[in-house]
Amino acid sequence: MSRFSGKVFVITGSSQGLGRAIASRVLSEGGSVVLNSRSQNKSEGLLESFKQYSERVIYVSADVTKPEQAKMLIERSIERFGRIDALINNAGMSAFGNLEDTEPSVIKEIIDSNLTGSLYMSHYAIPHLKKSKGSIEFISSLAAIHGLGSYSLYSSVKLAYIGAVQSLRKELHDYNVHVGAIYLGFTKNDTVKRTLNAKGELEPVPVRKGLPISSQDESAQVVLNQIYKRKTIVVQSLLGKANFIVNRIFPRIIHVVLLNQYRKMMKS
Ligand SMILES: NC(=O)c1ccc[n+]([C@@H]2O[C@H](COP(=O)([O-])OP(=O)(O)OC[C@H]3O[C@@H](n4cnc5c(N)ncnc54)[C@H](OP(=O)(O)O)[C@@H]3O)[C@@H](O)[C@H]2O)c1
Repeated sequence: MSRFSGKVFVITGSSQGLGRAIASRVLSEGGSVVLNSRSQNKSEGLLESFKQYSERVIYVSADVTKPEQAKMLIERSIERFGRIDALINNAGMSAFGNLEDTEPSVIKEIIDSNLTGSLYMSHYAIPHLKKSKGSIEFISSLAAIHGLGSYSLYSSVKLAYIGAVQSLRKELHDYNVHVGAIYLGFTKNDTVKRTLNAKGELEPVPVRKGLPISSQDESAQVVLNQIYKRKTIVVQSLLGKANFIVNRIFPRIIHVVLLNQYRKMMKS
């Protein structure tokens, strides 16, 4: 019997990147998956790539920042599979640029796609997760351990997940619903991945030189092990764990290290 047999996962933002890798793992371990992204035109190729699991996978195009579409995504999942065991709040745009230079529309887009969308999805999924005693998982980032210069929006929303986890653990404790977040380490990006600059233009993601980068499948396994073991907080990678611990005890050291990194980046 496979680990996720009979379990239904709703994974937002799963047409590419980490979300797709998580979907692939869940399917290969016997679970069912509701794939999602905004663009309907991605559905055909995506479903084709998972055709060996066609009985256990559907694709629902929905923008999670719109409450009616988040609701529809949950309703379609229930119509097809009759239950939801895990909601993975994975969809989210990234952005870089100093806050002073950033267009208000970009501020809104980053908050909506990462935070508002995750809260809408959780809101509509909770009644079903109470029935299944399931899980809500938030995909945070090492950028949430300590705010990074030029990533104030991204660090803000990813850190906000931790507050959501802490509150939801109280609200859902007596229903035995697991709530967790992962400080995801650097993970290989799809070549098509884009990030928003301060003006709101989509740009290729900068190459991360000299940093340890996990494969998408490695990161997917860490996320799924966390859900399976019902852990609250997981920090991925040695670098992440070291940062997390030092930041807890000596936050000023991490501030100074990151300030120097920021200054170097601004000069280059
Ligand atoms: N890659 C890393 O190193 C890394 C590190 C730490 C944390 N993370 C986090 O991991 C998650 C996945 O990252 P990734 O690198 O796989 O990102 P990605 O390649 O940019 O994929 C993002 C996915 O989200 C979808 N999406 C975006 N906005 C959406 C919305 N409003 N509603 C529904 N779907 C939406 C995109 O499809 P459409 O554009 O078609 O909607 C796409 O499928 C993100 O939350 C990211 O912040 C990544």
